[in-house]
This record gives sequence, structure tokens and C-alpha cells, in this order.
Amino acid sequence: MTEAVGRTPLVRLRNVGRNAPDVPIYAKLELANPGGSVKDRAALGILRAAIASGDLKPGDPSSKTLIDATSGNTGVAYAMYGAALGVPIRLVMPANVSQARKDIARAFGAELTFSDRLEGSDGAIRVVAEMMKTESARFFHADQYSNPANPQAHYEGTGAEILEAVGDRITHFVAGIGTTGTMMGTTRRLKEWGRPIRCVAVQPAEALHGLDGLKNLESALVPAIYDPKLPDETRFIGTEDGWTMADRLACEEGLHVGHSTGANVHAAVKIAEEVQAKGGRGLVVVIACDRGDRYFAPVKWERKTVW
Ligand SMILES: Cc1ncc(COP(=O)(O)O)c(C=O)c1O
Repeated sequence: MTEAVGRTPLVRLRNVGRNAPDVPIYAKLELANPGGSVKDRAALGILRAAIASGDLKPGDPSSKTLIDATSGNTGVAYAMYGAALGVPIRLVMPANVSQARKDIARAFGAELTFSDRLEGSDGAIRVVAEMMKTESARFFHADQYSNPANPQAHYEGTGAEILEAVGDRITHFVAGIGTTGTMMGTTRRLKEWGRPIRCVAVQPAEALHGLDGLKNLESALVPAIYDPKLPDETRFIGTEDGWTMADRLACEEGLHVGHSTGANVHAAVKIAEEVQAKGGRGLVVVIACDRGDRYFAPVKWERKTVW
């Protein structure tokens, strides 16, 4: 499973981008990773770095358990690759993340602890900090918000893959920010390329929002790996716009995605249309973060569901 991560497809969004024919939009389908999201790269990178440093010992009963706060997708990825590599996993997540994501993580044998549903991902971060005060001998705190292996996975993977595919043509890169790992690592790689590439971060416009996985940094804990100097620009996208674009991507492109992808693509389409309106040319690459089926409620025939 660890070898199936990355080398994700880059596909043109012909329909939602039809008003900007000279500025094609390409979606990097991170939802094609085995765990179904962009977070596979970060989780696997963090696991590999901790194994290399000796903090985690695969298959060894004396190994520490990897613990982290996660809004869901990273948890699914830790659980999957933890199982594949023989490393025990404990996830702390807000109680209101989708049932599907809780069930998927449990299916891989991960243990779950729930934080206050009103405190979002910051509440989960605080719960892990409390647990580490008393149980640091038992747990390895992966800390995806501070761990350099998170952006490094995107520097080595996402960024390099984009350059290999369209390095001679790309003019804009768009990614939403949660831990900021995707944006930081990919942007660092793209900025090393000879030609200028404008890197645009997407944040939710509201503090309380429905763009799962994204953070409004003005109202949230700012991740240690975030370097505000790296993005050339930040666009603030409303929940409605993200949800509407997610619906359009399903109906018009056959691409069923989560709402953070909707927000990213909403920003990408605006950028392409602005460049087109000025008579310019370009190519926009946008991150498609995860699959839409993760946001469905469980169906009734699921065996373990309690109604
Ligand atoms: C659905 C979704 N979109 C976007 C992101 C943001 O990615 P990153 O943490 O690399 O900033 C996440 C991260 O958890 C996510 O789960």
C-alpha cells in the first residue's frame, strides 16, 4: 500500500473552466491516493520519518503508539499505513467528523478519542497536548501541524510531479490550507523552478464554515509549518461557493469531491477567468483534496451502524 501513494493523475476541467479557454485548469487528483485524500502523502511521510529516527518501531510490541489530532483524512491515512507498516495508531478527532471517516479509521484497527465538537480541530490539538503531558512515554506525538515531514512529502511528491507534468506551462498553483503542508511543500518546490509560478492559498472566508479540512487562520491556531511569506496571495472563499462548485464538479465533470476541493476549484476558475479577461494565457493547477463519498451518511445496511 505504501508504494501506491502519489503519482496522482492531473486532469483538465473542461466544463467548469469553459469561460477561460486560453487558461486551462488542471486538477491534481489527490483523491486517487489509496486512502482517498491528499493526506496520504503527509501521513506516510511522517510515519517513515519517525521509523527512520527510531521513534516508532514497526512490528515491535515495545513501540510507542503514534498519536495525532486529525480532522479525519489524516487519521484515515495514519490508520491505513500504520496497519500496513505494523505501527499502532491513536487518533484524536472532533466528535462531529463524518461517521464514515470514524468507521474507516476503526476498520484499520486505529483507536479513537473524541474532542469537543464545538472546538473543531483546535479542540483535538488541545486534547493531544493534555495527553502528552501525562503519557509521553506511551505516545509518539506526530504533530502534523509542526512536523517538517508533512510539507517535505509535498516538496518531494506533489510539487515534483506537477513540474514533471506541466513545468513548462504552469502559471498558477491553487491549494487550500489546513495544516498548510500541501501549500508549503508544493510551493517551495515550484518556487525553485526557473519560471515564475503564482501560488495561491485558499482559506474559508468565515471562522465557522463548512469547508472540511480547511482553516481560517485569522481565527485558528496557526500551524508551526506555515510560512506566511510563501503564498503569493490568499483567497477567502465562502462555504456556499465551495459547496456549489463541489456539486458542479460532480454533475459537469463527473468528479465527486469534498467541499475543500470545491473551494479550491472556485478560486482556480476565478483566477483563470481573470487572466482570460485581461487577454492573457496561462495554466492553473489546483489540488483536488478528497472524494465526496466521505461526506455521505452511512447507509442503513452497514452492519456495525447503531441507529
Ligand atoms: C479535505 C481536506 N482538504 C484540504 C486539507 C488541507 O491540506 P493541508 O493539511 O495539507 O493544508 C485537508 C487536511 O486535512 C483535508 O482533509
